[in-house]
Formats: sequence, C-alpha cells, structure tokens
Amino acid sequence: MQESITSLAAEVAAADVSSTAALDQFRLLYLGRKGRLADLFDQLKTVPAEDRRAIGQQLNGLKQQAQARFDEAQAALEAASANEPADASFDYTLPPVPHALGTRHPLNLVREQMLRIFARIGFAVAEGPEIEDDWHNFTALNFPENHPARDMQDTFFVEPAPGAEVAQPHLLRTHTSTVQVRVMENEPLPIRRVMPGRVFRNEAISARAHMMFHQVEGIYIDENVSFADLKQTIYYFVREMFGEEINIRFRPSYFPFTEPSAEIDITCLICKGAGCNICKGSGWVEIGGSGMVDPAVLENCGIDSEKYSGYAWGMGIERITMLKYQVKDLRLFTENDVRFLRQFEAQ
Ligand code: DAH
Repeated sequence: MQESITSLAAEVAAADVSSTAALDQFRLLYLGRKGRLADLFDQLKTVPAEDRRAIGQQLNGLKQQAQARFDEAQAALEAASANEPADASFDYTLPPVPHALGTRHPLNLVREQMLRIFARIGFAVAEGPEIEDDWHNFTALNFPENHPARDMQDTFFVEPAPGAEVAQPHLLRTHTSTVQVRVMENEPLPIRRVMPGRVFRNEAISARAHMMFHQVEGIYIDENVSFADLKQTIYYFVREMFGEEINIRFRPSYFPFTEPSAEIDITCLICKGAGCNICKGSGWVEIGGSGMVDPAVLENCGIDSEKYSGYAWGMGIERITMLKYQVKDLRLFTENDVRFLRQFEAQ
C-alpha cells in the first residue's frame, strides 16, 4: 500500500496537464470516482487497523496534491486562452463589412410620390387626428343619425374614460374625409388640400382587406368648380403615377357627402386587364371614391353653398402600392419581413 501511494504521487506530479484534453484525462484518471485514487481509498479497508489512520492521512494528502495540480493547470489554461485571439488566422487589417442601410417602406414611398404629384398642381398637405368624434367622421359628412349608410364602414368606437362626460361618441376614424371637414371648418377659401393618413375598420384581415390601412384624401373648394375639374385632376394623377397607357373610368356610385358621386377604376396592372383574383376577373380595379362635395356638407362646415362648390376624392395607398409593385397580398405590408421590405428602393 505504502509503495502504491509513493508511486502514484510521483505519477501525479509528472503527469501532462499542458492542454485541455490532457487535463481532462488527468481528472478522469486520478480524481474521478473510478480513478486510481478512489481505488486506493477502496483498499483502505484491507489495511491493518493500527496502520489505517496513518495511511488514510497520506491518501488524503495525495488527493489534495492532485486536486491542487488540477486547479492550477486549469487556471493557467484559462488565462492563456483569454489572451489569445479567437481565430489566430483572422486578418485584422481587412476593411470592415459596411452596415447595410435600411430601405423605405413601400407604403411610405408611394404616399410621398402621391403627395409630390398633387403638390405640382397646387395641393398642400393637411393632417388630422386618428381618434375622431362622431361629428367629423359622420354627421358633418351628411351621414344622418341611424342612417344605414353608417354601416358602410364598420367602426371601432373608443370607450370614454370611466366617469368622463363626452358630448358625442369617439371612434377610430374610418376614412380621411374627417380631415376635409376640419379643413373646411378652419381654413380660408379657396381650399386646395391633400390629406394622407391611417384609417381603421372592423374587418377580418385577408389578402384584400385589413383593419388598418391608409388613404390620401383630396379637396378643392372655390367658385365655379365643376365635375370636369375633378376628372382632369384624377386623369393627371393616374397618368403621373402609372403612365400614359393606363385606362381610367368613373363609375357612378353613392357617398353621403358627395353629389354626384363616382368611384374611380383603372386598368388592373396585375393582369394588364386580362382578369385575375385582385380585379375579380373584371380587368378593372377601384382606386378610390370621388364626387362633388354635397352642398349640405359645405353648409355644415360654414361655407356658402350658393357661392362655392368643390370636389373631393379619397384613395387607398395600399391599393395603389399593390398595383404599382404587383403585390398580391395586403398583409405583406404589416408583417415586417425584411426579405419583402428590402426590395423597395427610394426613387
Ligand atoms: N371616404 C370614402 C371611403 O373611405 C372615400 C371617398 C369617396 C372620399 C368620395 C371622398 C369622396 O372625398 O369625395 O370609402
């Protein structure tokens, strides 16, 4: 036994601990539960009782020695690896890989392009709040109370704070026509404004519809404004946006705030008029609504409807962006997938 301890002590002192692998080996061979030291501890019970205490002490001493050797070698290896470069073959003189610049959101690009086109014919930008009152979203725009026309747009109503007194219901605006009202109420005539913004409707989300989308509203109020002026403005816009080749049609329609009213259709650019699921096979897609501002709306906003007339329109930015870039699913605009977003460059 005595001999075994002396020879194992010599082995422990001489063992290779210069690498992580060697150190692992050392741990298993000498310190592990099935290692050489553990073997000797097992044999302790065969030692005559009178020697057992002395031998036991020697074994404990050897165990501490082996553990100390292990700890020291491990600390040395760790210190050495901290000073070493992670990859010694890496060339630190290489120029850095530049950070990629983000790209602008397609809806933002199209919104700005639309505003630039209208700015060239004198329309300046106005904005309004996204949380509106009933007056600006409905009543001033000639939606009578309890009139079914209010159901044309499924509305998200906003609950008043508990205990708060509100004179009228508040809601997330369902269209940017709210800003027409604010502009007509507050600005001197003549008025020529475009009004971009976010709108909300209680609709199931699909490839063609979303509960949140964007519109650009426009309004022109002056003496002797006619439907011919409206048509020329829309023709000009569509040609600037999509090119000379595109066909435009005005389709008679109904809105409470315009009379007469027309929806604006253009050739479907996804299928070039052949018919697809975006245009429901018709070859035409609607890009917005328009009309001559109803005299009742002018009066609601304090404008003399005998003297003044005007036209207005509202267009969906998503729809125009889908046509321009051949995007077939509206949901892509809000999913924030960089592989989609990276494809659009500022122009
Ligand atoms: N507000 C309508 C909508 O969201 C669009 C619209 C139609 C706006 C006719 C107008 C207009 O200004 O004159 O469906």
